[in-house]
Amino acid sequence: NNYDFGLVGLGVMGRNFILNVADNGFKAFGYDLDTEKVDALKKEGGDLEKVDATTDLNTFVQSLARPRKIMLLVPAGKIVDSVIESLLPHLDTDDLIIDGGNSFFTDTDRRETYLQEKGIHFFGAGVSGGAKGARLGPSIMPGGNREAYKEVQPIFEAVSAKYKGEPCVAYLGPKSAGNYVKMVHNGIEYGLMQLTSEIYDILKKAGNLDNDELHQTFASWNKGRLQSFLVEITSEIFEEEDDKGDGRLVDKILDKAKQKGTGKWTSQNAMDLGIPIPSIDIAVSMREISALKDERVQADELYDRPTPEAIDKSELVKIAEEALYFSFIVTYAQGLHQLGDASKEYGYELDIAVIAKIWRAGCIIRAGLLADITEAFQKDKNVPNLLLSPSFVEKVKSTVGSARLLVAYAAKNGIPLPGLSNSLTYFDAYTSSRLPLNLIQAQRDYFGSHTYERLDQEGVFHTEWEK
Ligand code: 6PG
Repeated sequence: NNYDFGLVGLGVMGRNFILNVADNGFKAFGYDLDTEKVDALKKEGGDLEKVDATTDLNTFVQSLARPRKIMLLVPAGKIVDSVIESLLPHLDTDDLIIDGGNSFFTDTDRRETYLQEKGIHFFGAGVSGGAKGARLGPSIMPGGNREAYKEVQPIFEAVSAKYKGEPCVAYLGPKSAGNYVKMVHNGIEYGLMQLTSEIYDILKKAGNLDNDELHQTFASWNKGRLQSFLVEITSEIFEEEDDKGDGRLVDKILDKAKQKGTGKWTSQNAMDLGIPIPSIDIAVSMREISALKDERVQADELYDRPTPEAIDKSELVKIAEEALYFSFIVTYAQGLHQLGDASKEYGYELDIAVIAKIWRAGCIIRAGLLADITEAFQKDKNVPNLLLSPSFVEKVKSTVGSARLLVAYAAKNGIPLPGLSNSLTYFDAYTSSRLPLNLIQAQRDYFGSHTYERLDQEGVFHTEWEK
């Protein structure tokens, strides 16, 4: 009973995470019902004194030092509840269960309340960075009881990614704060991926860039202000040869994007909160449109689309870089705006600067831009939207023109850029002191006596519109 850390679920993520824990000098014990996974971990771990595993729950729990720190890396949903139930009879007061999966935040709140009554601490801790991140350093987003977090803090700080030596993990807030932040991380991830795919589309269709040129373009962008994990892997994707035939793999991949739900949850919850995040909403919708492949093929037969007008290749690349940078900023702005509001609504006490800080390395949305975002929120922690932060005004002003050019060109030439145009429209609306929604208020009052307020007088008004 002297292992520092327990891990349930030895799939790829679990195995990689536990090996990472062991590499950092903590003794770790794994549990899985699947003998093959247990054996694989024991083999890869080498020294059983450092990392061991079992299919026997009792052996697992008895091997851990108290208070036990048990992380679950199992699929979100009912499995989490059943693992908790199976662990419960073996646990003691003040043990910790940490759910490292993409659980829905209200499930985490329910589980925390349930386990609190039994004297067990429950943490929802988002883990980002994929399999490689889990092995070499993920970004970890824990929420739950602040005092109990101290038990696991040294382990998380050791295994997490580091940005200039600083760990990409921090206690984020009570209850489901960690899962909520990870959910919005994934919403932003959907947005950035959609934007990247649109830029690929226009560079290919309008600029006729081939895969080598696409590779070089994204690789060179990745050396500049667009530096990010997603831009980096995008550049590498264009280079990959198809080992089952001729040409590049990217051209053989079916254009139907799957989703496990975290992006959709982000949009649904933003609607509940009343916070607009159209760049993320459209990314979810585009995955849905992509899934309608058969209908798209039919519709393509019915409607013509313009042949894209000639455009100078290097000019297009320059405009695209600026438009992508602009829309990346606007997408982060929306996700962070949602976090700020959710923090008030759910009592998370989130510090946006801390969140941006732990996203600078390890996670899927890591980007050079996050260092600037961290600084912006460190300077003014209460700014509701990144677009209101003085340090971002110039970055946005100098690139929005290219977003306009690109969206206008695409609209005229029949190339769908919904993420980019939603980002631009969001920007134009959010930065308009006067919107035409006075007319909507008039219409509501006209047909439903819903009343309206006035610009020039206090109070609530109603008009008999029909003469
Ligand atoms: C991460 C990823 C990870 C997972 C996504 C994929 O941060 O490491 O976000 O959690 O890859 O959930 O989501 P979809 O399957 O919905 O695209």
